[in-house]
This record gives sequence, structure tokens and C-alpha cells, in this order.
Amino acid sequence: MSDWIVLGGPSSIEIAKNLAKAMKLELVQVDYKAFPDGEGKVRLNADVMNKNVIMVHGTHPPCDTHLVQALFIAHKLSQEGASVHACIPYLAYARQDSEFQAGEVVSLAAISHLFRTVGVKSLVTVDIHSSHGLGYFSIPSYSVSAIPLLAEFAKEKITLNSPLAVSPDFGGSTRVEAFARILGIEKVSLKKARSRTTGEIVMEESNVEVSGRDILLVDDMISTGTSIQRAAKYLEGFGAKRVFALCTHPLLVGRAMEIMEDAGVQEVIGTNTVPSPVSHIDVTPILADHYRTIWS
Ligand code: R5P
Repeated sequence: MSDWIVLGGPSSIEIAKNLAKAMKLELVQVDYKAFPDGEGKVRLNADVMNKNVIMVHGTHPPCDTHLVQALFIAHKLSQEGASVHACIPYLAYARQDSEFQAGEVVSLAAISHLFRTVGVKSLVTVDIHSSHGLGYFSIPSYSVSAIPLLAEFAKEKITLNSPLAVSPDFGGSTRVEAFARILGIEKVSLKKARSRTTGEIVMEESNVEVSGRDILLVDDMISTGTSIQRAAKYLEGFGAKRVFALCTHPLLVGRAMEIMEDAGVQEVIGTNTVPSPVSHIDVTPILADHYRTIWS
């Protein structure tokens, strides 16, 4: 695989370095400069002609800036004769994968067009919000799962008493099922009704025995922390002992950590798809496995 290299975009240098090391590939980077008016400029310093370039660049906040950077880098790589393989640890806009209300832009569909237009030949992300979203991509596109890594972390680092794995909503049922199966524990999904206009979240009654148990809340992402906060409060009302929150993408916007702590959450654990104080788990192994599988 001598024609493959890794390019670390400005948003995901750590994962890019780890991936290059794990796969014994050359690592190249770009120079990035932001002008006072907010515009950015990218400069490629490497010869990428006829190379397969794994462009590692997440689109976590500031989402639009990181997205534009990804498009600029991919465009330049294509112009210089490279085949671009986008490795986007966190894929922004994956939640807007349908026209939920008339007139809404299906953001993920627009993004898939943009990636293809700048010459991206394949894409991999980690735990896309819903696998339905991959259907918008007309290039080979994959979502690898960090759930086994979260489960292994819970097994090794947390001493649990009668643990119960819980998804804060039905959309996460498959995720929590996989998580619980690895740990060999019970699981349940709560019901969450989110108003699309006000963002209000309501927990509906769910038939779950939680009294005296340690709860492992599992979600794809924690943004404002509201879903975890409401779930923790709800489960506390049923006598839950301790609540831990595990997610792939710890976006942790604004007061997210504070509101989860106030709701009694003991610990928040995430991966490094999004850099944060709780990004304890490195997703490099699953990304490296993905490329090794493609090569074999
Ligand atoms: C929603 O369906 C997702 O799986 C997450 O539960 C949600 O995006 C988390 O957002 P927040 O932390 O703002 O409640």
C-alpha cells in the first residue's frame, strides 16, 4: 500500500497522527490560516500526485468552518492528482437526514453532493446518527461503530453494580443493544419526544426496573446534554443508584457538562472524534481496521 498516505486536517490532527502510526503510513499536514474577516486559507505542502490520500478531518464545531476546510483540502488534493478518501470522525449535519418539516433542507444530502463535487472517492465516519443517512452518498460510504470501544471501556474502568444499559430514545435501540450484548447485561430504550420547533424533550413512561442499579446511558452524541439530563432525572425517579453517560461524539455545547452533573450524572465518557475533556477513548483502531478491510 505504498501509494497510500494520511493527511491530517486541522480539526483532527491527533487521530490522523495515530492512524498514520497504526498503519505505518506517511503523514502530511496542511497550513491553515484564518483572516480577520473569518475567511480561511489552506495550503498543501506535499506532493500527492497519484496517491490515495486518507484525509482525516472531522466536522465537529465550529461545524461550518471545519466543513469548508474539508472541502477546500479535498478540492486541492483532487486538483493535484490524488484520490481522496475522506475520514470524517464526526460528520456534522447527519441529524438533518430528512425533511422533517416542509421546506427544510436535507442538509446531509447537500453535504454528500459537496463532497462528491470536490472529488472525494470514498467516505468513512464513526457512528453516523442514523444509517439511513449513508443512502445520500453516491460514493462508497461507511459508518464504523465505536460502541464496542465504549463497552470495553465500561468493562475495564468502571466497577458496576447490577448494571443496566439504557438508550435515552428509541432511535438508539440498536446501539444500546450492541453495547449491552458485549457486556452481557440487560438493556432498555426510553421514549423521547422532541418538539421540532421548541426543542423540548419529554420522557414518556417506560417499563423498566432500575431501582438500586447502576445505569449506563449510551448515545451517539451529547450536544447540549439535555437528553442525558432528562434521562438521568427520569431514572433517578425510579431509584437508579449511579448514572454514567457514554457517547461516541462528546460535542458538549455550552453548559452541557454542568447540567448533566446537576442531574446527578457521575461521569461522562466519550471518544476523541470530538476533542473534549471527556474524550478518553481513541477511535483509531476501528478506523485502521476499516481501511485494512478495504485493502484485503
Ligand atoms: C438524538 O436523537 C441524538 O441521538 C442525541 O440524543 C441528541 O442529539 C443529543 O442532543 P442533546 O445533548 O442536545 O440532548
